[in-house]
Amino acid sequence: MKKWTETRQPAGRFAYVNGRYLRHGHAGVHVEDRGLQLGEAVYEVCNVRDGRLIDEEPHLDRLERSLKEISVPMPMHRTALKQVLRELVARNRVADGLLYIQVSRGPAKRDHVPPPGMGRPSLIVTLRPQDIASATARTEQGVQVVTQPDIRWARRDIKTTQLLPNLMAKTEARAQGGYEAWLVEDDGTVTEGASTNAWIVTNKGEVVTRDLSHAILAGVTRKIILEAAREAQINVVERAFTLAEAKAAKEAFLSSATGACVPVVAIDGVAVGDGKPGALTRRMRELYAAKAGIKN
Ligand code: PDD
Repeated sequence: MKKWTETRQPAGRFAYVNGRYLRHGHAGVHVEDRGLQLGEAVYEVCNVRDGRLIDEEPHLDRLERSLKEISVPMPMHRTALKQVLRELVARNRVADGLLYIQVSRGPAKRDHVPPPGMGRPSLIVTLRPQDIASATARTEQGVQVVTQPDIRWARRDIKTTQLLPNLMAKTEARAQGGYEAWLVEDDGTVTEGASTNAWIVTNKGEVVTRDLSHAILAGVTRKIILEAAREAQINVVERAFTLAEAKAAKEAFLSSATGACVPVVAIDGVAVGDGKPGALTRRMRELYAAKAGIKN
C-alpha cells in the first residue's frame, strides 16, 4: 500500500511548521497538540495572486483578534510572520494560490484547561495552488446555494478550526447540487455561508449583507467590498435579511478570500432574479478587484 504522503502530495511542495520549512508530506504536529485534540486553534485563508498576498494586513488583524479572544499569544511578531508567509510562497513557487495559516495553543498533556507555563503556540502554514480556471467559470456561470439550519455555536466571529457544523452543512448542500450552504437562523434570517459571507441586491437596488456581531465571521473580503462600494457611492446596507427576502431578491452573491464575489443564481432551486449573474454583482467584483489589486 502506498503511503498517503506518496499518493496525495505533488512533489516539491513545502509547509511551514514551528520554525521549519518541511516537505509537505513530512510536515506534522505533536500528537498532543491542543489544536489537533481539542480544536483549540484559529486560522486564516489568504489569497495569493501573482505571488502577492491579497488583503494581508486585514487577515493578520483578524488572526490577532481571534487569538486574543481565546487568550493565545501570537506565535511570533507580525513582521516575522510576514517573512514566513513570503518565504513559503517563494519556496513553493506558487503564483496563484491559497495560503492557510493556523495557530493553536500548542502541545500539552490532554486536559480541558490549558496547563500553566505553556510554550509558544504552534504555527502551521501551508500553500496550495488555486485553480483559477474553475474559479473563473463559477464567476461567469454563478452558483446555486442550498439552505441549512445554522446549528453553529454563539461565537462565530472567532475564526476557529472547529468547523464540523460548517462541513456538515456544506456537504449536505453539495449532495443536493449546491455549491455553498446558506445558514439560516430559527427566526428565518440568513447568517452567512458555510465558508463565505452572504449578500443580496434588493429590487430597490440596495446591496445588503448581515451586520457584524457574534453571529457571523467578519469576512475580510466583505470589509473590502463594503469600503469599495461606499467609495463608489453604491447603496450598501449592513442588516439581517430573511431567506424569503433573498429568494425574492434581484441578485445575490457570496464573498470570501477564495472567490471574491461569486454570483448566486439559485437558492434552494428558486432562481434569483432572472437566474443569471447580476450586473451589480459584477460591478462589486470589479470594485473589489481594483481595491485589492487583483487583475480581473
Ligand atoms: N472561509 N464566513 C465564514 C464562516 C468563513 O469561513 C469565511 C472564510 C468567510 C469569508 O471570510 P473572508 O472574506 O475573510 O475569506 C465568511 C475561508 C475562506 C475558509 O474557511 O476556507
